[in-house]
Parts: sequence; structure tokens; C-alpha cells
Amino acid sequence: MVKAWVDGAQVLSLVTALRDKGWTTYLTEPRTLEALTDFSGLPPQRVADLVGALEANGVVTYGDTVQLTDAFAALVADDAYISLDDALDQAELLTRMVRTAAEEPGALPLSDADALVTARATGGKGTPITAALYDKLFLPQIPELAELIHTDRFLDVGCGVAGATTTLAGLFPDLRGTAIELIPTVAAETQRRIDVLGVGDRVDLKVMDARDFDEKDVYGSAFWAQPFFPASTRQATLEMILRALRPGGILFVQEMEPLPDDAGRPSYTLRRLVAQGWGVPFGRTAEELTAEAVEVGFELVRIAQTDFGRMVLVRRPL
Ligand SMILES: C[S@@+](CC[C@H](N)C(=O)[O-])C[C@H]1O[C@@H](n2cnc3c(N)ncnc32)[C@H](O)[C@@H]1O
Repeated sequence: MVKAWVDGAQVLSLVTALRDKGWTTYLTEPRTLEALTDFSGLPPQRVADLVGALEANGVVTYGDTVQLTDAFAALVADDAYISLDDALDQAELLTRMVRTAAEEPGALPLSDADALVTARATGGKGTPITAALYDKLFLPQIPELAELIHTDRFLDVGCGVAGATTTLAGLFPDLRGTAIELIPTVAAETQRRIDVLGVGDRVDLKVMDARDFDEKDVYGSAFWAQPFFPASTRQATLEMILRALRPGGILFVQEMEPLPDDAGRPSYTLRRLVAQGWGVPFGRTAEELTAEAVEVGFELVRIAQTDFGRMVLVRRPL
């Protein structure tokens, strides 16, 4: 068992170091071992050993030339949903956090830079790939969302880098909405992505605590990134959303961490360690999320099963 951990840690360390040295970009094209040796500045035998390790671990293929496998090429491509950089930065953050959790008694620190890493690795980019995922897998299972986007404004509460809003804005040219993010460092990246995608005239980004948002009776639909809201902020956030929706408007809340089976427990418990260290409730089930929303005055529409997990739909009463 320890050997397997060591192997995984070594591959992660190796891929991170080679990413930092530009290999993962260079190897998007087929390269001879000689060209890679020149590029790397390392001795030929070292390069051959590195390529051997990368090939055996599924990162590159190696015949006459060396090149990223299709899966890794997709991860480094511009249209990746979550890129290799995002995933490696998140790996570094989570590795650091479990160590701190074991060493320090207090809450785990989350710097603004770390919040940005988390937002990038969670939300994903609004790319054609993301749009296809939403369009084919997700939206048909919650048709209420598309219907409401066509008729009313959409509210994204705790938008992070606004993966959801920018993807929806790309799919629905008539989407008009507001996205709320607390942390200015995260919001700066969100605004950059909104501008790159050219949806700034339709998506209004507010940098503020969602609890202080004071529009009333406006929105037809809202999405709440509930796993990122500490217990002390949840009730006031739900009350704000209830006010902001028009009567009959629907709030969509995703169940992020359903109880795992035995195979999922090792990873689930590590995520729980970090999330609870950050002070956010972990593993709220769809039923618990429903109860939270009903408590402040929402009524349940239904709990939908989607390819992204279960989604709670609750409505502001008419
Ligand atoms: C990681 S994002 C979720 C990803 C997002 N749904 C997407 O599609 O890209 C969640 C965000 O909620 C933000 N957040 C937490 N509490 C908040 C609050 N009280 N007001 C506004 N934003 C908040 C966090 O800063 C974090 O960036």
C-alpha cells in the first residue's frame, strides 16, 4: 500500500516538474528523443528514463517519436474544461492542506491565491467542450433551467470563475444574469474570462458578500455554490436568494459529495478533512439541502438525478 502511495506521489512530482519546464506544452507535437534532449538540456540517458516513466504512467506515447497521450493532450488544450495546470495547482494546495491539518489545531488557512486555485479547479472554463457537456448531459435532465433562462434573469451565487454562468451564457444568447463573488482576486479572473468570452454585456459581476445583495423579485433562476459557504453564512444567503427570486423562481442547489461506496471512501475522507478544516460543511445530502432551503421559506419542486450528481430544485412560493 505504501509503495502505491509513493508511486503516485512520484508521478505527481515528476509531471509537475516537467510541466514547469515546459515539457507538457512541447510534447503536444510529436518530438524525437534527440529533439527532446536538446529542448530539455538534460543528458540523453536521463531523458530516455524520464520518457520511459512518463510512457509507463500513461502521460506520453513513445514509438519513433514522443508525444502526449490523447488524454493528456486534451488536458493541456486551450478548450480543456479543467486544465492540467489547474489540476496540478490544486494537487499542490490539497497536499499542503492535509499536512497543515495534521500539524496545526486551528482552521486551515485559505489565502486569496489558494481561493483562486480552488475556483479554477472547480468551476472549469466556459469552452465548447464544457458547453457540449452541459448541452448533452446536464440541461436535458433539468429542463426548468433553460426555460427560466429564456424568460428571466439568472443569478449565480458564489460564482467563483463563473464556469457555470459563462457556459450557460455561451449556450443561451438570451441569457442575462448576475454573478456574485466574495474574493476580489477570484473575481478579477472571473471578469477576465467574461471579457474573453465577450459576454460582459449580459453578465454583471458583483464583487461582494452574497448576503448583502439587495435586489428583490427579479430573478427567474438562481444557482448556489453551496459547498463553499460556511455554516454561519448559509441561512442569510438563502434568505437573500429567496428575496431576489421572483415568486415561482427556482433555486438550483447541487449535492456535491454523496455518501461514497467503499471504493470512494479513501478520497472522500481526504476531501472532508480539508473542507471541514476550511470551515465549510461537507457532504450535505440533497435531502439535507432541501431541509435548509425549506427552513427559510422555499418549497421543494423536485430532486433531479443528473450526470453531475443530484440537483435540488426549490422554488420561491407563488
Ligand atoms: C469555487 S466557486 C464554485 C464554482 C462555480 N460554481 C463555477 O461554476 O465556476 C464558489 C465561490 O463561492 C464564493 N463564496 C463563498 N462565500 C461567499 C459569499 N458569502 N458571498 C459571495 N461569494 C462567496 C467563494 O469565494 C468561491 O470562489
